Amino acid sequence: MYRALIDRLEQDGTLRLEEYLTLIQHRESVREYAAQRAVAVRQQYYGNTVYIRGLIEFTNYCQNNCYYCGLRKDNTALERYRLSVEDIIDCADTGYSLGFRTFVIQGGEDAYYSDEMLCEAVSNIKRRHPDCAVTLSLGERSTESYRRLKEAGADRYLLRHETANPVHYKRLHPPAMHFENRLRCINDLKALGYQVGIGFMVGSPFQTEKDLAGELLFIKNIAPQMVGIGPFISHKDTPFKHFENGSAELTTFLLSLIRLTLPSVLLPATTALGTIDPLGREKGIAAGANVLMPNLSPVGVRKKYMLYDNKICTGEEAAQCIVCLKKRIAKTGCEIVTDKGDYKHEV
Ligand code: 5AD
Ligand code: SF4
Ligand code: FES
Repeated sequence: MYRALIDRLEQDGTLRLEEYLTLIQHRESVREYAAQRAVAVRQQYYGNTVYIRGLIEFTNYCQNNCYYCGLRKDNTALERYRLSVEDIIDCADTGYSLGFRTFVIQGGEDAYYSDEMLCEAVSNIKRRHPDCAVTLSLGERSTESYRRLKEAGADRYLLRHETANPVHYKRLHPPAMHFENRLRCINDLKALGYQVGIGFMVGSPFQTEKDLAGELLFIKNIAPQMVGIGPFISHKDTPFKHFENGSAELTTFLLSLIRLTLPSVLLPATTALGTIDPLGREKGIAAGANVLMPNLSPVGVRKKYMLYDNKICTGEEAAQCIVCLKKRIAKTGCEIVTDKGDYKHEV
């Protein structure tokens, strides 16, 4: 009976809210079938290739105070750092020689970096490596800023919506942050021609199974090129320190449902998934994900980019992670490739 729902999801690319909810509630009995169909669908578009994106975490300053995040402004226990524009470009150069063809420039919302500085980093990387994609992940900005960064050569932008339920959004964020502005940003990015990534945490405080069903409809409706999801993991110096972590099981099941909902989406098996479960990233790939985002940041700053407790890969060099990931992924029957890995349109 639940298999028939998975079949219909594969056929139509969508279900009704109650049907998604039914699947989520009965996930244990269909998880294997869902994963099998999700992998088959991924194969149709991407074969057995897994794309890698080099993550450059260039600042851990943030003007926001999200209740769940270790980089929040009021976390005074965190030692802060900023990379210079030259450092960012150096990271990309190192990444290029390791085989990366996408660089993700990610940071907290840090007004220290002007549009000019960020545009300089983007245009320099694009000039030095014309065969690469530059992805930005800089949070909420003005329409004009997004326009200038696009003009400087940025190709993609990641901005998780965090939750599709505006009431839930209020419980995860202080009053200064607004769901409507998130949506404005996501719509701007789409209109400007970025390949856009959205996403949410699985098992964040106050999230219900119905909220998760709503996430799948929201994602279908926005139709992004990328969707990043990972389990919520509590951080000891945040207001959410006492909340339970999200689970790898629910995260991987949702990865399968997302793959079936948006067949050609670029779907990372995230670091948070690898943190909550030592084999989390492999399980994510086996559930339908096709992207990994290892860290390219200098080892000296990695431990300071602590969004949540016990984050993995904070002591390793980028080169070590690549070797590690290649071994891990080979065991799933997939293969890491080093091309730009653009979104493939549905046929
Ligand atoms: N657990 C898991 N993911 C988190 N993020 C922030 N804090 C946490 C946490 N405690 C995610 C958010 C955000 C991205 C930068 O990291 O979804 O968009
Ligand atoms: Fe800042 Fe992003 Fe963390 Fe919120 S989730 S505090 S915006 S880095
Ligand atoms: Fe970083 Fe395994 S991927 S150490």
